[in-house]
Amino acid sequence: MEVSPEEVKNIDKSGILGQMEKFADDLRRGLELSEKVEIGSFRALIVCGMGGSAIAGDVVSDLVSEIPVLVNRDYELPSFVGEEWLLVAISYSGNTEETLSALSQAIKRECSIVCMTSGGLMEKLCERHGLPLIPLPKGYQPRAAFPIMLGALAGLLSGEVPRFAQSVRDSLGELDRYVESLKPHVPLSENPAKLLANELIGKVPIIYGARNMRSVAYRMRTQLNENAKMLAFHHVFPELDHNEIVGLSGGIFEGLKVVVLLDEGYPETIRTRVEAFKELFRDKVPITELVFRGSSEEARTLKAICLGDFASVYAAILRGIDPTPVEAIAFTKKYLKEKLDYLRKIGIS
Ligand code: F6R
Repeated sequence: MEVSPEEVKNIDKSGILGQMEKFADDLRRGLELSEKVEIGSFRALIVCGMGGSAIAGDVVSDLVSEIPVLVNRDYELPSFVGEEWLLVAISYSGNTEETLSALSQAIKRECSIVCMTSGGLMEKLCERHGLPLIPLPKGYQPRAAFPIMLGALAGLLSGEVPRFAQSVRDSLGELDRYVESLKPHVPLSENPAKLLANELIGKVPIIYGARNMRSVAYRMRTQLNENAKMLAFHHVFPELDHNEIVGLSGGIFEGLKVVVLLDEGYPETIRTRVEAFKELFRDKVPITELVFRGSSEEARTLKAICLGDFASVYAAILRGIDPTPVEAIAFTKKYLKEKLDYLRKIGIS
């Protein structure tokens, strides 16, 4: 089914798709924001965040192998994180308790810290402790601020891993052109995001990726969760060949849709595993293969993220659902605050 620009305007009331359309500009903006931050050298990176504020860390971890990159989604900071690490705490709202708890541990350990937020308690902690802050522009949903966060992380790595920041910069023009092909005025037959949304609607998508597409598979899953309010799952090659395929061969296929993310640069090992997967399940479960081409691994990864992001909003529109509100998340945060008020317990608020 077609999704018209009018339908997008009527249903996407807060204009999340409009924010996605600025993907390349926001990446550039993130790169510029972190240029203003002065940091010393470091040997490893840990990104602390949750949900939409953590995923940029996963993308960096998939694309950077020159130094260790970890993503910490928890209240606790691993005990091995110390002086040689750069810790980047990201919370769009600035009020996420897991992130603030890990950040407060890092402050006590005197780690080298940079924060990214649009305000909240994180901003106050930065003022109180004199921490460097990358200010995120207000008015975004955290998950829609992903390109700014990623650009800023790339900028922070420009001393230690200059190749990465450069490659992100080099991909901007290509991303702009790709995003053009996903916009609402481009008709269904020529719009890969609308086509994907139509394939996923009414199904339970299971998204598979490998290497640089691991974080993309997870991002696609969570964007379908939050924007389209759909259940979705993901797994990664080669690990899924050691467990998930046995579960799939148990024969419960109803309603499933497998999406395989294929980077044109996958090595033979992964390509052959995808072939084996198709050999096993071709006649049993519908499989959609999405091939990503581009000038670099960074460009292909970011194109794939754009595709999933746009498709998740189109899926929401096709379901007649406003993509922006995430009531279950808001309820849970409120419940935790009322029952536990953990941040007050640990002396942060
Ligand atoms: C909402 C979203 C969520 C939040 C998460 C953490 O758009 O994507 O996954 O990112 O609940 O909140 P913040 O980002 O404010 O730390």
